[in-house]
Amino acid sequence: MFRLDGKIALITGSGGGLGVGVARALCSQGAHVVINDLNPELAEQTSTMLCAEGFASSAAPFDVTQRGAVKESVARIERDTGPIGILVNNAGNAGGQKYTPTPFVDMPPDLWERFIAVNMTGVMNCTQAVIGGMSARGYGRVITVSSTAGRVGKSINVSVYGAAKAGAAHFMRHLSQEVAKDGITANVISLGFMNTMSEGFAHKIIAQIPAGRVGMPEDLAAATVYLASDEAAWVTGATLVVDGGYTPF
Ligand SMILES: NC(=O)c1ccc[n+]([C@@H]2O[C@H](COP(=O)([O-])OP(=O)(O)OC[C@H]3O[C@@H](n4cnc5c(N)ncnc54)[C@H](O)[C@@H]3O)[C@@H](O)[C@H]2O)c1
Repeated sequence: MFRLDGKIALITGSGGGLGVGVARALCSQGAHVVINDLNPELAEQTSTMLCAEGFASSAAPFDVTQRGAVKESVARIERDTGPIGILVNNAGNAGGQKYTPTPFVDMPPDLWERFIAVNMTGVMNCTQAVIGGMSARGYGRVITVSSTAGRVGKSINVSVYGAAKAGAAHFMRHLSQEVAKDGITANVISLGFMNTMSEGFAHKIIAQIPAGRVGMPEDLAAATVYLASDEAAWVTGATLVVDGGYTPF
């Protein structure tokens, strides 16, 4: 079950961070994984590493916030490698810059625009670049990595990030209705606190996670493989909450 043989998967922001684990998991299920990142060196390094592990992978550096570059890159991938059947909208956070939680009252508009650009507009840019081809071929999987911050309000100074994540998630729900007839699913993973947090913050937050630990890349990877699989064909417009029980319901 859950094999992805013959599928081409584009994972945004997978040169570093959690996306690397997602890429390895999709590869090990048989997919050819295209590693996107803002940072060309990271994209190349991760793709080279996966190839050295015996997997099928290539690199496609571009900035998801730049609509023209996204369109051109997707066209190039589809010409050189083949049709993209799986899109994982993973690039997010503060868009390649240090993520410093900031109270909204102090937040300059250029900072909130950056959060919205990468976490919401970037999702739309990438989705629109692949969705026409998916519809024409009658098959597609669009998976957007959102956050518990996009489902519940929290006093951790992430209001704009949370708003952008909520926007991307709701975009998936509506999109799922438009494209279901074409064999395309569009789903959301609402991700909780992960092992990428600073140790001090993780220590404080673990006490509030019923499972008693932060999330690992493998937790996100397994959820992504499931939603990407043929077995999840009847799952669309859904939000899979992967957060150790932090936000039940
Ligand atoms: N880490 C967490 O605790 C956590 C929790 C919930 C949700 N998330 C979400 O999970 C996803 C992955 O998180 P992460 O911590 O691995 O991210 P990260 O900040 O480590 O970034 C991963 C990669 O994305 C690339 N990137 C950033 N902006 C980009 C852009 N505009 N275009 C292309 N690539 C870009 C970066 O260069 C980096 O290599 C994000 O969407 C994030 O919002 C993370």
